[in-house]
Amino acid sequence: MARRRRRKWTASPPQISAAQTAEPKPTPNGVGPFQIRLYGNPVLHQKALPIPEITAVERKLAEDMLATMYAANGVGLAAPQVGVLKRLLVIDVNRDDPASSPLVLFNPEIQHLEGEVVEEEGCLSFPDIIADVKRAAKAVVIAQNIDGESIRVEGEALLARVLQHEIDHLNGILFIDHISGLKRQLLQGKLRKLKQKSQQ
Ligand code: NI
Repeated sequence: MARRRRRKWTASPPQISAAQTAEPKPTPNGVGPFQIRLYGNPVLHQKALPIPEITAVERKLAEDMLATMYAANGVGLAAPQVGVLKRLLVIDVNRDDPASSPLVLFNPEIQHLEGEVVEEEGCLSFPDIIADVKRAAKAVVIAQNIDGESIRVEGEALLARVLQHEIDHLNGILFIDHISGLKRQLLQGKLRKLKQKSQQ
């Protein structure tokens, strides 16, 4: 998911805990290890497959996805967005906080949703498109971490939104699929342009 509002990047490169990755958060220069697939690419509509075993290949994928997400100034990224149909996502809603650690979730599943809230949302696969999307206000997700251990993540506010948005990606669902009627029609022009651009 893209940031809803751009905030200034802190001057010094922040360090994150070694628990998830030893690499410092790279500065957002727009260039990551992966090219992010844009709307119009069929991979974004496909369902990702479960990851039966977390090997060095998946750990490297997670690391490169994090670097790609930070470079693109995002707060969440799902594997299909980098062309990989595996159930893996990375999230960092506190990316400007040097003490924060990103979430790396393998095979995430929504266990519980609660409440309802409408807020602006964007997506790294839809540059420059922002729309109001209704989501649950609270989300509880079960997943495996990078060591293959079962974890439970409880999210509210932005984290709840990002969890739902990224898990949707694993099922081939995009944030614009939650928008209907007139609001969707108003986006059609922008979406058409993006589709043409991604197919060039
Ligand atoms: Ni997205």
